[in-house]
Amino acid sequence: MSAVRELAVERVEHLDPHDLADLCDATNAAIVDGGGFGWLEAQSRAALERHFGGILLVPEREFFIARLDGEVVGSAQMIRPPRHNEAQAFSAQLAHAFIAPYARGFGLARMLVRRVEDRAAALGMRVMNLDVRATQESAIALFEAAGYTRWGVHPAYARANGQTIPGYYYYKLLEVPGGRSTAEALGDIG
Ligand SMILES: CC(C)(COP(=O)(O)OP(=O)(O)OC[C@H]1O[C@@H](n2cnc3c(N)ncnc32)[C@H](O)[C@@H]1OP(=O)(O)O)[C@@H](O)C(=O)NCCC(=O)NCCS
Repeated sequence: MSAVRELAVERVEHLDPHDLADLCDATNAAIVDGGGFGWLEAQSRAALERHFGGILLVPEREFFIARLDGEVVGSAQMIRPPRHNEAQAFSAQLAHAFIAPYARGFGLARMLVRRVEDRAAALGMRVMNLDVRATQESAIALFEAAGYTRWGVHPAYARANGQTIPGYYYYKLLEVPGGRSTAEALGDIG
């Protein structure tokens, strides 16, 4: 009989050294597996600590971590438009979502995406945008199962291993709790 695994997702404003170390290990495992979110090669611990430390300081970014049996095994970011961008204040971006290979298949990414969407909706956001390399098949399946609509393909989105890789662009409409419906708020978007 297999043991019940403990799944958790939380929004964090800082990371203690133990969680940061686990996050760095998870990140390098994902990079080495080929599903890095931008990085193509494993990074030093110091570089990753600087990277995540910097992200936690950016006002427009919110940071979410996933835990498996208490250990940090993945993360995602929600990026809000900068304050001067009033015309797009109703939309957010889901970026850099990943789960370490050793923690995949438990439903943590689905929880992570849902948590980021719920947070965005609670802040009054009506639209979640994201983009992904066309080669990230698991992520594409995840986002499409979660109700994201693919609206565009960028033919020269990324370069990896000497190859140019297309990118897929997605959006999903969110419902704001206690607010007008998104159909009413946005009007006819075709
Ligand atoms: C995509 C990724 C985050 C999925 O993590 P995960 O925790 O294993 O995903 P979950 O267990 O929550 O799966 C949720 C759903 O996603 C889809 N999915 C996830 N992995 C899949 C796979 N290998 N094949 C097909 N569908 C998959 C399924 O719809 C799944 O639901 P189901 O199990 O009921 O069929 C993980 O594979 C990853 O980190 N990949 C590399 C990084 C990446 O591509 N990030 C996205 C771009 S920034």
